[in-house]
Amino acid sequence: MMRTSHFAGTRTSVPGWSCAAALALACGNPSGQPLTERNAPLEAEGTTAARSAAQQASLSEPPPNSPPPPAMCGDQNGGGDQHVDFAALRAAKVAEKPEVEQRQLALLELRYDLSDNPSADVTMTGGKPLQSGVRVRLPEGFTWESLAALSPEEIRAQGLFPAGFFPLPHPKQPEGGMLFPEFHIEEVLAQTGRDLRRFDLDLDLPERFLPEFPPPIFLTTRPDLGDVSQGQLVTTENFYELFKCILNPKQLDGLRLLLTPFAQQQFNLIDDRRSDRPSLGVACFDCHANGHTNGATHLVGDVRPQESRHRIDTVSLRGVNIQQLFGSQRALSSVEDFTEFEQRAAYFDGDPVLATKKGLNPLDRGAQVQGMAEFQKLLDFPPAPRLDIDGRLDPALASDAELRGQDVFFGKGRCGECHEAPYYTDQLMHDLKVERFYEPTLINGMRAGADGPIKTFVLRGIKDSPPYLHDGRLLTLEDTIEFFNLVLETQLTAGEKQDLLAFLLTL
Ligand code: HEC
Ligand code: HEC
Repeated sequence: MMRTSHFAGTRTSVPGWSCAAALALACGNPSGQPLTERNAPLEAEGTTAARSAAQQASLSEPPPNSPPPPAMCGDQNGGGDQHVDFAALRAAKVAEKPEVEQRQLALLELRYDLSDNPSADVTMTGGKPLQSGVRVRLPEGFTWESLAALSPEEIRAQGLFPAGFFPLPHPKQPEGGMLFPEFHIEEVLAQTGRDLRRFDLDLDLPERFLPEFPPPIFLTTRPDLGDVSQGQLVTTENFYELFKCILNPKQLDGLRLLLTPFAQQQFNLIDDRRSDRPSLGVACFDCHANGHTNGATHLVGDVRPQESRHRIDTVSLRGVNIQQLFGSQRALSSVEDFTEFEQRAAYFDGDPVLATKKGLNPLDRGAQVQGMAEFQKLLDFPPAPRLDIDGRLDPALASDAELRGQDVFFGKGRCGECHEAPYYTDQLMHDLKVERFYEPTLINGMRAGADGPIKTFVLRGIKDSPPYLHDGRLLTLEDTIEFFNLVLETQLTAGEKQDLLAFLLTL
């Protein structure tokens, strides 16, 4: 069903993206033909060479996604209590897993330089080295400066928008759902015996591009304590000992609920799950690990059809107390709303019927939501020792490069127009109109069109939260600088970009 894309007409009418132009690769998804053969021409071009938009088109069609097996019991007339042969479903999904993952890896390799190149001196707050350098691949024959000299129209007409700047699809767009990093799966299993592994799919991004784990926790109420995680992932097993002397009972109970699993999407007790064994579900802090993020991903629930749903990278909850908009697109107006909403609808893809089958957990606004929200609002940004009380650099503590970078940020680079001090957000949404640079297209089953308005994410503590943008399409801060330089048409020099990076690292 997903293979007949709504987009086929548009795609074939655009030369740079047409099936015919897509190398020797089949545009369709010839089932049965091993992926390695289909990708052979890509390999032959060499992995370090720059990639053009046309190459990405070779991976436009969705990965395989078998339909559920026929109902085996329950109401056979299409009612809500139909049940399938779970073993058959599992076998079909497991069989297509290698091809699905190879397709996504081929796409990532087209978009990015994924090599391990840790920074020698810059780490996240807890000590994990940042991956350094621009990782998005340039089109053949261009430098970042020469590409930025072209107008959006020229870049679009010639198909020169770097593949890594396009929206990033979910690793299995037609199926979607929650995916957790391996380090988190292992730690939760070890501590609590709960298994967050999916049999059909793993998270696609290498761990070096994800936030540190477990991340430190800073409380607005107890800055004197520094990191209160004691280097542990906070779970139902250890939260009480860690927090009983520094939280009041209501906050402690809110934290308990944030750590308690409830049936969600792929993790539940029924056939419609993607875990081997029936699962008690997922906790808020399985994605917002230690109140931050572990890079877990899923699809937004509120867009249809499936191919248009955005991938979303888990946001940090640090500093959620100073924010006024919640969610990258939905613009919910309180942490309480978001907390209730995540449980009732978002996970379940905006489908109350499916949610009911898996087991509803309506939270009581006064007794439960309030405590959960109150704890979230205690989560502080990590310390930024070089920032003054106005959120700008203290000239006595900052380096020359950092100060020059601050000038670029608030001046020529235009960043400060949206990312306002002291927290580096204007609490608004902006439509960056990135689609000025490319023709709408299908990427691994995801429709890349216009993103629409997205929230101005907070940049305080930003070095701790890779990957970047709502869908995690940018792997390093250097990538974000090239992205905004192109999108805002600011023509920054190489030196200005270096200084800007130095400044972003102080936030
Ligand atoms: C599967 C991973 C996952 C789980 C589980 C999860 N979240 Fe989230 N959370 C996200 C993502 C992704 C976003 C960004 C959503 C968007 O962009 O629309 C988010 C956004 C939020 C926000 C808005 C923050 C902001 O700055 O905009 C809040 C608050 C939040 N989550 C709280 C919770 C609570 C409370 C729970 C448990 C009831 C929870 N989350 C469970 C992934 C998750
Ligand atoms: C017109 C408003 C605007 C300007 C100007 C702007 N940004 Fe942003 N910024 C945004 C929006 C909106 C997003 C979210 C975009 C998305 O997720 O698709 C964002 C996201 C980001 C992110 C990723 C945040 C995260 O948590 O993933 C970084 C880093 C960033 N901006 C840095 C910059 C820098 C550096 C500049 C200047 C060179 C800049 N921005 C200029 C609005 C702006």
